[in-house]
Amino acid sequence: MILVTGGAGYIGSHAVVALLQAGQEVVVLDNLCNSSRESLTRVAQIAGRAPRFVHGDIRDRVLLDELFQQWPITAVMHFAGLKAVGESVRDPLRYYQTNVAGSITLCQAMADAGIFQLVFSSSATVYGESVSMPICERCPTGIPTNPYGQSKLMAENVLKTLADSDHRWSIALLRYFNPVGAHESGLIGEDPNGIPNNLLPYMLQVAVGRRPYLNVYGDDYPTPDGTGVRDYIHVLDLVDGHLRALERLALGGGVAVWNLGTGRGCSVLEMVRALEGVTGRALPFRVVARRSGDIAQCWADPTKAERELRWRATRDLRAMLEDAWRWQRLNPHGYQGDVEKAAAALAS
Ligand code: NAD
Ligand code: WQD
Repeated sequence: MILVTGGAGYIGSHAVVALLQAGQEVVVLDNLCNSSRESLTRVAQIAGRAPRFVHGDIRDRVLLDELFQQWPITAVMHFAGLKAVGESVRDPLRYYQTNVAGSITLCQAMADAGIFQLVFSSSATVYGESVSMPICERCPTGIPTNPYGQSKLMAENVLKTLADSDHRWSIALLRYFNPVGAHESGLIGEDPNGIPNNLLPYMLQVAVGRRPYLNVYGDDYPTPDGTGVRDYIHVLDLVDGHLRALERLALGGGVAVWNLGTGRGCSVLEMVRALEGVTGRALPFRVVARRSGDIAQCWADPTKAERELRWRATRDLRAMLEDAWRWQRLNPHGYQGDVEKAAAALAS
């Protein structure tokens, strides 16, 4: 049985579907601070069976001990965490407490329960502003420009020293590039609270008419069209990488770092044109000043994961955008809307 922390969230819910479909038993621990119970109802609809659900916090040691006693858990996929960069600048302690202290509490409870296999959600943000592209795992980590990024780097360092101190641990640090897209059913996807920070969720809200236009943050970067370049990866490819990492952990072997990206960079304007191609609608945008803390470009060298995990991203940008668009049209107001009504309206 696999414990999935943060399993009601965007990436976690897709991972739960993949685990259930792979025949695993799953228990989700989530405090629902950035997600809803509805995502797990939809997960059950897709997978044909439901995960167990525990409503609670990764920082709650008593709850973790009970949970590890109650279920025969053999490994943990640890997605739970806070991820809003701007919020982390305003409230850094909350970010360190959840993302760093929460991960420590989880590991302490795991060790006491004799569970030593952990897949951790890290981020390409730990590389800071890399000078050369693509970024491989040997590239030095940088100084992330915000407390969110710092918290991911701190958690990585905690986990590395933990694995060095006790060879029973087997830990995968998965550095995600830019996860986008949704399950092809359109039933689960990213459901940001308030104004989206990330590019694609914002573009989708413009495309469905919830916002008038996209702000393009700068067109004077040293990139081919002047806008920021990122490595967007389909969330389903990303969770595939987690399942491969989990298989690999069962073989033992300390701590390993893997980039999960496609190896291809895409600019903001390329994203705009590609989404227009998928929706058949013009996407209004305005070029505004650069966003503070943004880097010009960032894409992965994914060959280490290809070699060691036999994993490779297979879905292209069109599939990412088509799946994201299906999710957005069926659920214009995220999990708060009525998917059946939306589906009927789309069909008529
Ligand atoms: P998300 O916010 O959708 O999911 C995180 C889940 O964790 C939510 O369901 C939330 O309710 C839960 N959670 C938060 N604090 C908790 C706590 N103290 N106890 C229990 N549950 C808690 O975010 P996501 O995009 O699915 O991200 C998952 C992980 O991947 C995060 O750790 C994030 O930092 C990391 N990551 C995300 C991205 C991205 O762009 N989405 C990129 C790199 C890394
Ligand atoms: C992508 C590009 C923006 C919004 C952030 C976090 C990072 C990570 C993922 C977890 C950039 C441009 C964006 C908009 C725009 N999360 N943009 N208008 O900046 O690569 O990474 O999210 O670990 O930590 O920093 O992703 O989607 O915010 O931006 O022009 O309204 O789109 O400038 O070039 P980013 P993003």
